[in-house]
Amino acid sequence: MMRKFPKSLFLVIFLLQLISSITSTKNLSYGVGDIIRDGETVISENGIFVLGFFKANNGRSRYLGLWYNFSTDTIVWIANRENPITHSFGVLQLTGEGNLIIYQNQSTTNDSSIVWSSNSNNSNVVNPTAKLLNSGNLIISSSNHGTNDDDGFLRESFDYPTDTLLPEMKLGFNKKTELQRYLTAWKQSNVDPSPSNFVMKMETTGLHEVYTLISSKNRKVVRLGSWNGEWFVGTPRQKTNSGRSFTYVDNQDEVYFKFNVTEHLIYERIVVFPNNSYWRLAKGINDTNSTWSSYPSNADTCDRYAFCGPNGICNLKNLTYCECFPGFRPKSGNSWIQNKYSMGCARNLELNCTDDEDFFLVNDVKTPETTNSTFLDKNLSIGQCKDRCISNCSCIAYAPVYLEIKNIPRGCIMWYGDLIDTVLFNRGDGQQLYLRMPKSELQGKYSRNGWKKIVTIVMVVVGVIIISLSGIVILIRKKKILMQRRNLTERPMLYSNEDDTILNEEVPLFDFLSIASSTNNFSTDNKIGQGGFGVVYKGTMENGQEIAVKRLSSSSGYELNDFMNEASLISKLRHRNLLQLLGCCMERDERILIYEFMKNKSLDKFIFGENRHLIEWPKRAEIIIGIARGLLYLHQDSGLRIIHRDLKPGNVLLDEAMNPKISDFGTARLFGIEQVEENTRRVIGTFGYMPPEYANGGIFSIKSDVFSFGVLLLEIISGKKNRVYYKYENDVNLLAQAWTLCKEQKSLMLLDECLCQSCLIPQVSRFIQIGLLCVQDKAIDRPTMSDVLHMLTNENSSIKDAKRSAFWNYSSDPNFEQVDSNNVASLTQLDGR
Ligand SMILES: *[C@@H]1O[C@H](CO)[C@@H](O)[C@H](O)[C@H]1NC(C)=O
Ligand SMILES: *[C@@H]1O[C@H](CO)[C@@H](O)[C@H](O)[C@H]1NC(C)=O
Ligand SMILES: *[C@@H]1O[C@H](CO)[C@@H](O)[C@H](O)[C@H]1NC(C)=O
Ligand SMILES: *[C@@H]1O[C@H](CO)[C@@H](O)[C@H](O)[C@H]1NC(C)=O
Ligand SMILES: *[C@@H]1O[C@H](CO)[C@@H](O)[C@H](O)[C@H]1NC(C)=O
Ligand SMILES: *[C@@H]1O[C@H](CO)[C@@H](O)[C@H](O)[C@H]1NC(C)=O
Ligand SMILES: *[C@@H]1O[C@H](CO)[C@@H](O)[C@H](O)[C@H]1NC(C)=O
Ligand SMILES: *[C@@H]1O[C@H](CO)[C@@H](O)[C@H](O)[C@H]1NC(C)=O
Ligand SMILES: *[C@@H]1O[C@H](CO)[C@@H](O)[C@H](O)[C@H]1NC(C)=O
Ligand SMILES: *[C@@H]1O[C@H](CO)[C@@H](O)[C@H](O)[C@H]1NC(C)=O
Ligand SMILES: *[C@@H]1O[C@H](CO)[C@@H](O)[C@H](O)[C@H]1NC(C)=O
Ligand SMILES: *[C@@H]1O[C@H](CO)[C@@H](O)[C@H](O)[C@H]1NC(C)=O
Repeated sequence: MMRKFPKSLFLVIFLLQLISSITSTKNLSYGVGDIIRDGETVISENGIFVLGFFKANNGRSRYLGLWYNFSTDTIVWIANRENPITHSFGVLQLTGEGNLIIYQNQSTTNDSSIVWSSNSNNSNVVNPTAKLLNSGNLIISSSNHGTNDDDGFLRESFDYPTDTLLPEMKLGFNKKTELQRYLTAWKQSNVDPSPSNFVMKMETTGLHEVYTLISSKNRKVVRLGSWNGEWFVGTPRQKTNSGRSFTYVDNQDEVYFKFNVTEHLIYERIVVFPNNSYWRLAKGINDTNSTWSSYPSNADTCDRYAFCGPNGICNLKNLTYCECFPGFRPKSGNSWIQNKYSMGCARNLELNCTDDEDFFLVNDVKTPETTNSTFLDKNLSIGQCKDRCISNCSCIAYAPVYLEIKNIPRGCIMWYGDLIDTVLFNRGDGQQLYLRMPKSELQGKYSRNGWKKIVTIVMVVVGVIIISLSGIVILIRKKKILMQRRNLTERPMLYSNEDDTILNEEVPLFDFLSIASSTNNFSTDNKIGQGGFGVVYKGTMENGQEIAVKRLSSSSGYELNDFMNEASLISKLRHRNLLQLLGCCMERDERILIYEFMKNKSLDKFIFGENRHLIEWPKRAEIIIGIARGLLYLHQDSGLRIIHRDLKPGNVLLDEAMNPKISDFGTARLFGIEQVEENTRRVIGTFGYMPPEYANGGIFSIKSDVFSFGVLLLEIISGKKNRVYYKYENDVNLLAQAWTLCKEQKSLMLLDECLCQSCLIPQVSRFIQIGLLCVQDKAIDRPTMSDVLHMLTNENSSIKDAKRSAFWNYSSDPNFEQVDSNNVASLTQLDGR
């Protein structure tokens, strides 16, 4: 049974149906009676957005949705999200009353066949039309404006977002109609578009802050913070001149946030994902082939809602993260107990609402959440705010509020209960909070009245001078760090914008959860190596960047601060022949180092075994020189005098261009090995690369690394391992063999057969001579790395004859019998004598 359509209209439908079965891409706007069937699409005038049916759930379900013409699997809006069609006979139709309807069976367009309706039917409507606007907004309008929508449309898809916020789309609510515009994640990414429990929504009370939350449990996940006139303080700062603009509107009718791409530089969207994260995704306008660059917006521990509990402050710079407001102490006892942060803090002295109270200014924070707070939306000065708060016994804090306009406060906000989800930024662009405290607690923190004005003025002047001087220094440092960062992380250009990274003067901190997810929860499939200090995994960050994740075994009881100091020291070492530390992660008992990932793995894969022919002589010479450069930097040029202690082919990684990068430097320091050694006289290193004085318990110096380098050099040339423990009959002591051959003027016989074609004979014999100099018994006879590099790179430099060595032979010592140098463990420990 058809609805009561005029007969003529019915004919039109029929005709258009015929036409549309011929063309698969329809015109932009279509009037009453026109239909879209599964397989047909409508493209917006600018060619960017497409409307049509798409398949999901492995082809089992069909939905009407909107996507980008250049990125057809990026669905930005869905109509019948909760009510999919199971076959390909669905149609979309606009009725004479202005209702858009999806029927699941094009031959049965009666009520029983309806799977979705826009519910925009209105008997006053004249000539309704539906149109896909250039912004990706599917609108229904009527020529007589018989409308109920604030933009003059009968209905628009922008009012009913799914999981994606497009430019110009509002996130917020209408105070009159109570229409909430919020995002709801898919049940399963790319598979099941039906709505999940994870939403991003604007709070209807307080300062109308934006949260992500698990709606079924009403559990807040991340609070974006209040609007400060430019951005939500809890999110990475957005530069307005970066091709985007941001708007926050709070008037008597509605309150919303929206963004726009001001120049046509980028496609950008904000998406909530089923795994409780939200992302900003973007593509350059001329870069439509590439994948979307993604930028996670809730990456830090401190972004987790109420991580430090009531009255706690989360401070990313603090290794334990949580602190209490001044005048408060941890509820769990005198100090924070790990994993009990959520208990928060309690006042040392309760307030009793007497004259004995005043306010303490807490600066540079994300102010507490405002659900139960009162927004005094008046032209109150900050002084008047204070008076209001002091005269209300339950007011415990207040803060100025900045809305549309930055730097000009508009009224203030007052808190009554606990202060929840406060974050200390340490970056100078946070908010101010005035906290009520007994005057006795204020004393010693700062004194309000005790100082004479002159003293204050003098202090201010001195302060200004110091601040501007340190400002200049910090600026220069920031610039430098940013330049370095830019070189090392391959963030897409669009995001190399300074303010997108939380500036951290020390080593960048990574979030444990994101590291865990990048490595598939440290799955054994991702394991790429194991050493004495821990296991190494391959990880893929959400932006596609590959990383090597070294999860340190947590048994050694070292201090958090030491770990942080050493990690930041290591991260400052930057050289093209050193593996770069990208950051670290310290949460709970986890100590994780994150390095750049090297596709070609380690050098031992290339100099020993079947792949030996892959690197010819000229490349090997380059590798040797590269390693020498890296080592020289560690010893001398970095200014830090770092001894590697475990240089060997397994610790030299190769990048895509086969450039060597020394890895594992500094880990001994990280573990406080020096102390361990002193106390227990244990020796760290790997057989075959260990200088005699080391195993003898002698003094350890940079010359020990020179010995290891010499062994490494001879191994690269010979393709043979320097065995110290003879497992097979043909195992050789490479050093002894090299010395003998050299003395007999037959040093070229040491050369790996694979290299005969490509080698430069004079260069090879020079290198062997240099290698022999490095492996001399006495440390004092060995050259320094700068001598070594000089000899390697200058053909005309003279090379001394190496002294004959005992070529340290472990095999006679029964203690060494269990050790097999084939073992890949990067670190072997043994008892010295
Ligand atoms: C599309 O509609 C416009 C008017 O809105 C019309 O001028 C144009 O000819 C139509 N194009 C097609 C292919 O029907
Ligand atoms: C949409 O994409 C298709 C396939 O890539 C292309 O052929 C077509 O020209 C595009 N349409 C517009 C209007 O850009
Ligand atoms: C669509 O409706 C027609 C007529 O009622 C029916 O014959 C046909 O089987 C239906 N198709 C589907 C896929 O339900
Ligand atoms: C809808 O149409 C189908 C087939 O024409 C019919 O079997 C069914 O009874 C109709 N339903 C209603 C509610 O009219
Ligand atoms: C709109 O359609 C619904 C069902 O499709 C109906 O219940 C309602 O009365 C209609 N409203 C108007 C104003 O026509
Ligand atoms: C958003 O940006 C587009 C493209 O630059 C522009 O056409 C549009 O007017 C802007 N919208 C608003 C509300 O500023
Ligand atoms: C995109 O490409 C067009 C044509 O090559 C060029 O004119 C335009 O400047 C480019 N836009 C951007 C933002 O690079
Ligand atoms: C995008 O891909 C198409 C086809 O694969 C290719 O012709 C075009 O050059 C590519 N564009 C860019 C900017 O890489
Ligand atoms: C870190 O927080 C603790 C309290 O949780 C505090 O005692 C300590 O001073 C803080 N450290 C720094 C560097 O701020
Ligand atoms: C209020 O507390 C202060 C100390 O915090 C105390 O000196 C004062 O006596 C108390 N007043 C009352 C009325 O309890
Ligand atoms: C707000 O008040 C309600 C009711 O008293 C309470 O359940 C809730 O925990 C409070 N929320 C915050 C953030 O203080
Ligand atoms: C969340 O889902 C998105 C989309 O599938 C994915 O890109 C991202 O890696 C996921 N994040 C986590 C932490 O699992």
